[in-house]
Amino acid sequence: MGFRIAILISGRGSNMKNIIEACNKKKLCSSVNLVVSNKSNAYGLKVASKYKIETHILDSKSLATESFESLLDKILKKNNINLICLAGFMKILSKGFVKKWPKMILNIHPSILPYFKGLNAQKQAIENNAKYSGCTVHFVNDVMDGGEIIDQKIVNISTHDDEDSLSKKILMEEHKLYIKVLKKLEKDYGKSK
Ligand code: GAR
Repeated sequence: MGFRIAILISGRGSNMKNIIEACNKKKLCSSVNLVVSNKSNAYGLKVASKYKIETHILDSKSLATESFESLLDKILKKNNINLICLAGFMKILSKGFVKKWPKMILNIHPSILPYFKGLNAQKQAIENNAKYSGCTVHFVNDVMDGGEIIDQKIVNISTHDDEDSLSKKILMEEHKLYIKVLKKLEKDYGKSK
C-alpha cells in the first residue's frame, strides 16, 4: 500500500529527488504529492517543479513557529498526506506539531544516531577521528534526532576523508536507505489495512 507523501526540505533536495524518482519509476507504490520548503531559495523547489509537484514556501524567517506549523498542518491535511518525509529540513518541529502526526514523520540524518546529533554531523565525525559514521532514518518525536530508529547504514571513514568526501559517501547511502525504509513501511502499512 502506498502513502501520500509530503517532503519537507530546506536546500538542495537530493533525497527529495531520489524519493520522487523512486515513486515515478514504481520502485515505491507511494506518491509524492507535496514539497514544502521553509526557505524561499531552496534549490529543491526548482527540482520539484520540474516533476510537476505542488510546492509551497513557508518562510520560517518571516513566520512565527505557531503560524508556520498551523499553515503546514492545513496544507498537509488539504492534500490528504499520510507520511511526511524530512529531507534536509533544517527546522525543528514543535512537540505540539509532532504529536499531531504520530509515527507519520520520518527524518534522515547523516550519522549513526545517537552519535553526532544536530548540525554538521559529518564534520563532527571527522573532528572526532571516528573510524566510521553513516546515516539513520528515524521517526520524528519531540527530541531532536531522538525518535525511534528504523534503519541505519554504516560508512567507513578512511584517513584521507574530509568533511566533503565523507558527506558525499554518506549521501550515496542516504539515497538507498531512505528508499529501503519507505519500502518496508509500505509493506507494514499494507499489512495493517
Ligand atoms: C542530507 O545529508 C541530510 O541527511 C542532512 O542534510 C542533507 C540534505 O541533503 N540532514 C540533516 O543534517 C538533518 N539534521 P539533500 O537536500 O540533498 O537531501
